[in-house]
Amino acid sequence: MNLILFGAPGAGKGTQSGFLINTYHIPAIATGDILRAQRRAGTPLGEKVKGYMDRGELVPDEVMIDIIRQRLQQPDAQNGFILDGFPRTVAQAQALDEMLARLGRQLDAVIYLRVSRQVLIERLSNRYTCPTCNSVYHFTPEQAHNLPRCPKDSSELYQRTDDTSEIVARRIDVFLKHTAPLIDYYSAQAKLENIDGQMSVEEVRADITRRLAARKRVGAR
Ligand code: AP5
Repeated sequence: MNLILFGAPGAGKGTQSGFLINTYHIPAIATGDILRAQRRAGTPLGEKVKGYMDRGELVPDEVMIDIIRQRLQQPDAQNGFILDGFPRTVAQAQALDEMLARLGRQLDAVIYLRVSRQVLIERLSNRYTCPTCNSVYHFTPEQAHNLPRCPKDSSELYQRTDDTSEIVARRIDVFLKHTAPLIDYYSAQAKLENIDGQMSVEEVRADITRRLAARKRVGAR
């Protein structure tokens, strides 16, 4: 299964990728996590992307395409993958099409999680992330007074520096301008599954499962 999880910042891509990993036994390739790991390690790539990320802007296409080209060649991605956060521009989508064609592979589906601006802002201002396993949690300001540790590995949870209201607003604008055109791009390829991302986490998960199963049945005919 070769999948793209697609949606605005806070749409629930990371949240849903966890269950897809366990269901389909394929890796999630989350470009934001890859870039944050480079930053934490202080690599030249981390230094290069820092400013773009802190401003809520997109990292240049050629940098991202190079990362994905290398990642898709890793052994664990040979039986399938979940792309979370890539592609984010039409140029990235075209480069991905070319990469997959060269590898003799194709996308099975693009899962678009549709969420209103107001809900995105509420979710991101109350999001807490684990620096070790990248799991995300939602806590109200009252709950955040007694912030628990990550239940999976006991790491201290943190709030991302790009989750401030000003940067979140910019990230959503960037999504609408540069990434939303991919809705038409993948609709034209009949790959898009347009899902109401405002349902509960479990309902979104069930809808994704239903739609992927339906695609598999059609493909098997
Ligand atoms: P990245 O890390 O990819 O951030 P993003 O796309 O902005 O997405 P998020 O991780 O913020 O949100 P999400 O959709 O995963 O939501 P989540 O599941 O956490 O990118 C960061 C930066 O890196 C970019 O700004 C850019 O600079 C750079 N970058 C990365 N890829 C790039 C590329 N390809 N090209 C150029 N630049 C690139 O959920 C959010 C919250 O909501 C959580 O608290 C969660 O618990 C909660 N939640 C989730 N689902 C539900 C639900 N159904 N109901 C209620 N709450 C929910």
